[in-house]
Amino acid sequence: MAATPEIPNSDKNGERRAREPDEAQVVVETRALSKVYRDFWGRQKVRALKSLDLEIHKGEIFGLLGPNGSGKTTTIKLLLGLLFPSEGEAIVLGQNATEVSKNERIGYLPEESYLYRFLNAEETLDFYGRLFNIPADVRRERIDRLIKLVKLDAARRRQLREYSKGMTRRIGLAQALINEPDLILLDEPTSGLDPIGTREMKDWILELRDQGKTIVMCSHLLADVQDVCDRIAILHQGELKELGRVDELLKVEDVTQVKARGLSADCQDEIRQVIERHQGELVSMENPTTTLEELFLSIVRDSEARPGRRIVKQEPTKQGKS
Ligand SMILES: Nc1ncnc2c1ncn2[C@@H]1O[C@H](COP(=O)(O)OP(=O)(O)OP(=O)(O)O)[C@@H](O)[C@H]1O
Ligand SMILES: [Mg+2]
Repeated sequence: MAATPEIPNSDKNGERRAREPDEAQVVVETRALSKVYRDFWGRQKVRALKSLDLEIHKGEIFGLLGPNGSGKTTTIKLLLGLLFPSEGEAIVLGQNATEVSKNERIGYLPEESYLYRFLNAEETLDFYGRLFNIPADVRRERIDRLIKLVKLDAARRRQLREYSKGMTRRIGLAQALINEPDLILLDEPTSGLDPIGTREMKDWILELRDQGKTIVMCSHLLADVQDVCDRIAILHQGELKELGRVDELLKVEDVTQVKARGLSADCQDEIRQVIERHQGELVSMENPTTTLEELFLSIVRDSEARPGRRIVKQEPTKQGKS
C-alpha cells in the first residue's frame, strides 16, 4: 500500500482555490448580535450569544467553531430569522435577518433532519422546489443533477425513513441546494458521515465556494474545519474568542519546517551541524506521518480496486504448537 495516498481535490487550505473571496462584498454582518433564551414566564434562562460582531464576505467558507452549547446553532438560526435577536442585529444579503424574503437566496442544512420520512428523495426535492416556485422543467433537471451529485441515484425512490444517517445528511444537502442559493448555512455538515462521506462533503463545500457561493458552517470537528474553512470564529459560552484566517491562526511563527527526500545520513548530520552553528535548536528531523483520514481512505480505495482479504492470520510457529 502506498504511504501517501493520492486523493483528488486535495483539501489543503487554499490549494484548490479558484477565486479569492470578495472582501468588498459583505454577505453577512452582525452588529452586537445577542440572544437570551427566556423561559415560559419571560425570565432569563440562558445568554446563548453575547454581542457578536462579524463580517463574512462573498466567496468564503466561514467556520463557526466552539464546544457544545457555545452558540453556533443559535447564530445560524439568527441569520435565518428563525430566532429574533434580544439585542443587536444581523444583516444578511443586504437585508435584515428577520426579513424572510432573503431566505430565497439561502440554503440551510439544519443540525437535525426535519425531512418528511414518508417521501422519497425525488419527492422531497420536488416538494422543496415547489416551495421556491421553481418551474417544473427546471425542477426536474435540478433534482436529477442534485441526486447524482450527492450520490443517491440508487436510492432515489426509497422513502427517507429507510435512509441511513449518512444518506439523510446527503439528501439534506441536496435539499439545501435546490434553490441554487448564494449563501449556504451548514450546521454540522459532516455529523454522522463516515470518513469517505466526510471527505465527499468537504469536497462539495469547496466546490460550492469555487462557484462563488458563500458558506457558513459550524462544527466542533476541528479537522473538518481546518480542511475547508478560509476563516473561523471561535465561540465559547456565547462569546467570540478568536477570529481570523485558518492558515494564519495555525502558523507557528518561530519554527521553520524543511521537507526533503533522498538525504543521506551524512547530509542529515551536516544539516544538524549547520543548525547548531547558527545557534538554532533542532526540534525534529524525521519521516513525516500521514493522517488517519488519509490512511483510512487509501485502504478503502485500495480494497475497492483489489477486493479480497489483506490481513492474513499468522500461522502459529512450530514451537508454539503443543
Ligand atoms: N430553545 C432553547 N431554549 C433555551 N435554551 C436554549 C435553546 N436553544 C439553545 N439553548 C441554549 O443556548 C446555548 C447555546 O446553544 P446552541 O444550540 O446555540 O449551541 P451549539 O454551539 O450549537 O452547541 P452544539 O455543538 O451542542 O450543537 C446552550 O446553553 C443551550 O442550552
Ligand atoms: Mg449546534
